[in-house]
Amino acid sequence: MSVKDILEKRRSVRHYDPNYNISSEMLTALIESASKSPNGNNIQATRYLVVDDPYLRDLLLPIAFNQQQVTEASVLIVVLGDYQAFEKENIIQIHEEGFQEGFFDASLRDYLADAAINYYANKSKEDLALELTRDASLASMSLLLLVNETGLETITMSGYDSKQLKSVLNISERYLDIMLIAIGKGVKDGHKTVRHDVEKVIYRNKI
Ligand SMILES: Cc1cc2nc3c(=O)[nH]c(=O)nc-3n(C[C@H](O)[C@H](O)[C@H](O)COP(=O)(O)O)c2cc1C
Repeated sequence: MSVKDILEKRRSVRHYDPNYNISSEMLTALIESASKSPNGNNIQATRYLVVDDPYLRDLLLPIAFNQQQVTEASVLIVVLGDYQAFEKENIIQIHEEGFQEGFFDASLRDYLADAAINYYANKSKEDLALELTRDASLASMSLLLLVNETGLETITMSGYDSKQLKSVLNISERYLDIMLIAIGKGVKDGHKTVRHDVEKVIYRNKI
């Protein structure tokens, strides 16, 4: 199916077969492909916390306002951004890896690493949260497309209490929780949704 077809057909699905299993190999392969998504300075800050413990899923249910997909979907992922990715050591390490692979020479390695370090140097925590959110959102959409391509269904969710979720899953302040993604075999189609006429959302040169 083309990307266009997937986008036309995709719906947020809220009802899943609780007995359907997705292998961890398949999930890993999907996440590996999603992680090829563009990300700022290639610092690779997005993390995927896969919650497959039924006990934890039950605890998360009321935290996510009893949205049944939290317990019924085959896979529940907490998409996180890692603030540590902005540290100089990570930035240098990633560019060193690219250099070792022969993807660029030493001068481009140093130029790119310095540019990235300087780019983040004076950013506020709020600015950094936006950086993490941009990257994680692109990777999340890639994951949705990849999953939908297999015939399985998805939903992204921000409907949960962030503080409680972080507490139950022991997620430290090192990470920003960005969204939940549930994946599974849909048992009821997502309802159809409208979109603005495209001319309403496109502006040219000024807004
Ligand atoms: C960031 C984000 C958070 C969302 N959170 C929820 C949620 O908590 N619960 C829910 O039922 N749907 C949630 N949705 C799904 C939206 O309601 C849905 O994408 C929108 O209504 C359009 O429908 P469609 O995805 O089927 O085209 C969320 C979507 C996004 C992008």
